[in-house]
Formats: sequence, C-alpha cells, structure tokens
Amino acid sequence: MILTNTLNMEVISLDDERLINPELVDINEERMENSLRPKTLAEYIGQDKVKENMKVYIEAAKKRGEALDHVLLYGPPGLGKTTLASIISNEMNSNIKITSGPAISKPGDLAALLTNLSEFDILFIDEIHRLNKSVEEILYPALEDYTLDIIIGKGPSARSIRLDLPKFTLIGATTKAGSLATPLRDRFGIVHRLELYNTEDLTTIVKRSANILEINIDNESAIEIARRARGTPRIANRLLKRVRDYAAVLGNGNITLNITKIALNKLEIDDLGLDEIDRKILETLIIKYRGRPVGIETIATTLGEEVDTIEDVYEPYLIQIGFISRTVRGRIALPAAYEHMGFPYEEA
Ligand code: ADE
Repeated sequence: MILTNTLNMEVISLDDERLINPELVDINEERMENSLRPKTLAEYIGQDKVKENMKVYIEAAKKRGEALDHVLLYGPPGLGKTTLASIISNEMNSNIKITSGPAISKPGDLAALLTNLSEFDILFIDEIHRLNKSVEEILYPALEDYTLDIIIGKGPSARSIRLDLPKFTLIGATTKAGSLATPLRDRFGIVHRLELYNTEDLTTIVKRSANILEINIDNESAIEIARRARGTPRIANRLLKRVRDYAAVLGNGNITLNITKIALNKLEIDDLGLDEIDRKILETLIIKYRGRPVGIETIATTLGEEVDTIEDVYEPYLIQIGFISRTVRGRIALPAAYEHMGFPYEEA
C-alpha cells in the first residue's frame, strides 16, 4: 500500500507483511532501533526480574574482577535481547562482538572470533539455536575452560593443539530455547526468559521513543499504539513511525488519538494488535476445523507460512492473550478468540 501526499509524492510504502513481524528488520529500521536503544539497565523499561538479577550478577562479577558468567536470553523476537546484551557489555565496561548462529558456518569461523576476543569481552550470538553441530562442539571447551582445541594438518600427520582463550562472556539469544542441545544449554550459568511487555511498559517505551525522535504524541495515542503492539517494543516503535507518517499527511505532524486510530485501522491492525494472518489462524481453527485441535504443520500449510513463523511470531501473543492453546493433539481456539472473531463458542 502506497500513501501519497497533496504533492503526489510517495510518502510511505507499507509492507504489510513486515509490520507485525518482529523478526524482519530493514537497514533504516535498524538505524532507528539503534538510536532508540537504551544504554543502561536504568534506562531499560520493563523485564524487571531480568534487570534485577542481571544487576546483581554484573555488580558481583565486577567486584570479583571476573568475567560475567555466560548468559542465555530467550523469548519471542523484538523484545530487546540484543539491546540487553549491549547494555550488559556497557555496564561491565567491556567490548561486545555481535554475530549470529547462521553467520558462523564453520568451526574456523568461530575459532577466528574466539581468538580475537580480549579479556572480559562479550561475544553475542543471536539465533544461537541455529549453530551447526561441528561449531557447537568447539564452543563447549571454550565456554567451560576458556580453551580452544584445533586440529592442524590432515591425515596421519594431523595433530591437535590446545589454545588458551581470554576469559570472555558468551551471551546467546534464541527464540527457541527448546531447540538448544542440552550440553549447550547447560553451559550457561545465567538463563533468562524475556516476557512480552504489558501495555503500561510499552506506553512508556512509545513516549520515550517519541521524545528521542522529536515526535509530539499525546498520552491516549501512546496507550493506543502500546495496546496494539502485541507486547513487543520493536512493533511499538514501528507503529509509532507509521502513525507519525499519517500525522504528517493528515494533520499538522502531531499525533492525536483520532489520527492514531485512522492509521492503525488502515494498517488493518485491530484493537488487540491482531493482523490478517492472526485472523486467518483463528478462522482456520474456528471455521475450517470447527474447533477441533489442529497441528502446527496443518496451520502453516493452510496459511502458506513457515511453521517457525507461526510458532515464533504469531503464537506467543495469541497464547498470551488467551486466544489459543497448545494441546497434545494440536492447537485450539479458546472462547475469547470466538468472541473477538464474532462466532458463538461451541466446544468441539
Ligand atoms: N526500546 C526498545 N526496548 C526498550 C526497552 N525495554 N526499554 C527502553 N527502550 C526500549
């Protein structure tokens, strides 16, 4: 969908698929996200349990003059795992190197990363569940004893040498803690699940972002954006930007509740932040399968989406708001979903 202003200039180009998919981020958005990223734990809004615990661990590690224990952060995308990793490095006064599971394709790639670290550096591996087996095996002794076993040469003359690594901290992030091999999971001394944000915290995040981006927004509009952001700061910030565009074209640039509602309705994001795919998931469960449990593969095939996308992007919020439930026999829609979609509830 393209919106034009009175001069017929293209103002925004809306890629609806991306709007609520917190996994997809483009370069401009990454730039914006970086400018909005809090730098300290004190600035970081929400996730109080994680913050309180991390504060203690960071202070204790600093007092002892040791590297922080390895940290695993898991939970749905867009909740601030990378942000938290940067904050931890900032609070530890250490450097951070950021990479991702799929970017480390060979053991040599990981060896190069590890041997380039300095004492107390932080290595952040996003999507750590996507590391391949041979890379993972190099990681075990590195995490446990700060050593790296490498094999030099080939055939009968090949020999293994052991290198000492600097004491570093690995921060792993994943949307799928369940896909992590147990030996890898067990090597993280600190494991935290990031939760979807409540509306109050998201409202504070929207206001903070508006302030940094010099956008005028009233309280009701900030709440409205927060309510429709599916518990996810990345989506809240994205909606804020889109609503700002509407405010520039339809009004004087200030965000009001009226403009916010027009913008979000045009973006087909409903009162609870659900979009077309969410509604299709619910219709599949309620209408197509008449309330019977449906397997995740069947839902994905019906919608033409990947299983991972349904599981990581759509389901967590639908489960959180009590719209669907995972049972051993498959997914079912709950009464609140029937009511929201305007269907009478009948138990299958
Ligand atoms: N921007 C994105 N996530 C945030 C958070 N948790 N606190 C403050 N600003 C944020």
